[in-house]
Amino acid sequence: MSKQDINCGFLITTPENNHWIDIAELIASSIPNALVSKLGPRFGALYYENISKHPQSCSYIVFDKTGRLAGIILGTLDYNATSSLDFALKIKLFLAANLRLFSPTVFRWLLTGLRFRSTRKYHMKDFPKAQLRTIVVHEDFRGNGLADKLINELESFFKKNNLESPYVILTEKSNRGANNLYEKLGATLIKTYHYHDKTMNAWHKSLS
Ligand SMILES: CC(C)(COP(=O)(O)OP(=O)(O)OC[C@H]1O[C@@H](n2cnc3c(N)ncnc32)[C@H](O)[C@@H]1OP(=O)(O)O)[C@@H](O)C(=O)NCCC(=O)NCCS
Repeated sequence: MSKQDINCGFLITTPENNHWIDIAELIASSIPNALVSKLGPRFGALYYENISKHPQSCSYIVFDKTGRLAGIILGTLDYNATSSLDFALKIKLFLAANLRLFSPTVFRWLLTGLRFRSTRKYHMKDFPKAQLRTIVVHEDFRGNGLADKLINELESFFKKNNLESPYVILTEKSNRGANNLYEKLGATLIKTYHYHDKTMNAWHKSLS
């Protein structure tokens, strides 16, 4: 995708290889509760880049006019296909996370995963395959409508790929900004359920 001027000098484009560390750092500072955010920028960069490069996925980033990274969206047409990790990537992720893998956070995540395993599977089994995986706007640039613009790009990708059914968006129940955003965009709250140590909202959003 070539760079496209979307609003007041903000440019939207697709990420290049050298952007992924900055992207991972932006996501980690904006969604610090996510497990990936706790495993370091190299882990995040590998993880998000792997999802993004899958043929069923897309990602778009926004820069301000000085070239600062202002936001990112990552989405997929098939959550399961883009979540599988090959052996080589698993090793790279393991090395990137290093000692962070043995932190109390990771143990707690594993334990709460076991505790809610059956209810989680039950709740997630009917989710649409297409998903908005991550959206983040840097705090200095929030309130400029950038999230709206990034979601438009994601939906254009879905339309080009003939998606007809709604896609799913998962967010923490406590995340007021994100929940307001999805409600304002006309998404429907489908359910609230436990995922590891979090209470999640699942939204269904049809293409605009
Ligand atoms: C959620 C987020 C992406 C919104 O980005 P943004 O560019 O500021 O959003 P927009 O300017 O397009 O705002 C669109 C609407 O979202 C809602 N909204 C956005 N941030 C909000 C906040 N902090 N509190 C309440 N409502 C908010 C408002 O309804 C807003 O519409 P309005 O300006 O007409 O009132 C941004 O706040 C963010 O990065 N948050 C941290 C990361 C995160 O939680 N991501 C979602 C994970 S699922």
